[in-house]
Amino acid sequence: MKPVKVGICGLGTVGGGTFNVLERNAEEIARRAGRGIEVAQIATRQPNPKCATGATPITADIFDVVDNPDIDIVVELIGGYTLARELVLKAIENGKHVVTANKALIAVHGNEIFAKAREKGVIVAFEASVAGGIPVIKAIREGLAGNRINWLAGIINGTGNFILTEMREKGRAFEDVLKEAQALGYAEADPTFDVEGIDAAHKLTILASIAFGIPLQFDKAYTEGITRLTTADVNYAEALGYRIKHLGVARRTDAGIELRVHPTLIPADRLIANVNGVMNAVMVNGDAVGSTLYYGAGAGMEPTASAVVADLVDVARALTTDPNNRVPHLAFQPDSLSDHPILPIAACESAYYLRIQAKDHPGVLAQVATILSERGINIESIMQKEAEVQDGLVPVILVTHRVIEQRIDDAIAALEALDDVVDKVVRIRVEQLN
Ligand code: HSE
Repeated sequence: MKPVKVGICGLGTVGGGTFNVLERNAEEIARRAGRGIEVAQIATRQPNPKCATGATPITADIFDVVDNPDIDIVVELIGGYTLARELVLKAIENGKHVVTANKALIAVHGNEIFAKAREKGVIVAFEASVAGGIPVIKAIREGLAGNRINWLAGIINGTGNFILTEMREKGRAFEDVLKEAQALGYAEADPTFDVEGIDAAHKLTILASIAFGIPLQFDKAYTEGITRLTTADVNYAEALGYRIKHLGVARRTDAGIELRVHPTLIPADRLIANVNGVMNAVMVNGDAVGSTLYYGAGAGMEPTASAVVADLVDVARALTTDPNNRVPHLAFQPDSLSDHPILPIAACESAYYLRIQAKDHPGVLAQVATILSERGINIESIMQKEAEVQDGLVPVILVTHRVIEQRIDDAIAALEALDDVVDKVVRIRVEQLN
């Protein structure tokens, strides 16, 4: 059978990795796909010194690839929203299948792209958009298809996890670790996407759609970054038996779907609490299977290429199949998506870590306890660091039971209004993940 012709748009970290894996493993890939997968053209403005592109035709214009009649599959690895959207829509219009690693594109424009792809009978595959080399989209979309998914929670930004790990284990400075992550090709072009949780929210939006059968709704995801975390809170969390991770959480409740990214205390003995460096992990809980865990490299040249190439193999196998009988883009049939709403953060339920900077004199703890109990907030543990009294102020640290966030908002406002409480109350959500 004739080889499938692929055009790669973007020869940066992921594009370079994809080219190299396709070249190196060509024979194994052909044995799997039933035919060769050949890079027929590359669009890039500058060569990648890590790729021996040899005689492969190279153009500086991505639209040359999209308009090339010989190409069956366009691989979009340029990133960003605007040009990438234009590129992908044009490729679909031209009847080409698309493979992309672009989570921002799928999270923000995926509904439009999939509708257009259905109209034209082509596939848009995006395994590499979430958690790098971990085949978590395939696992949820196909492997867990018998389940009603209850929740999922993941460390889905390698850069952020790398920063938190280096800060906790080696006491390194935030900026210093971020620079290293950029040099290693982990970070986004705009690294605030990593550290402010936007990249994780893109990925969570995609996972939630596939898990619950809802349209992509990135604009409704709650996003909180890691830039305001302090070493003090990392250490108090450890003393309470927790570890702080930047987690994306999607949970189905009767009222709606929680979709939130934020720093989170996780019991230190959970497997996911011990996922370090650039590694990602996603826990998925289904009603039949229970909890499952998917782990691997969440960013980087060849790990991400691994997912891109797997998609290419999937598309190559499906080229001759009836478009109406393929695995739906968002796992559920497009006319069966649910309109279950995404909940605002105030309506989400979690446990909370609170750090209150209080004046060190009698009655303060009683006032704190009263404010919480008046709002039905149950305290799981409390710690007062007498040894850390400074200028007559003592940190009071407590962990609550699960409660709707609105009640914690009210309690924090009341605590901050007390004469005996100075500074803002620090609040970090807590998940037991059991
Ligand atoms: N910047 C992303 C990360 C790359 O660090 O996880 C992979 O999506």
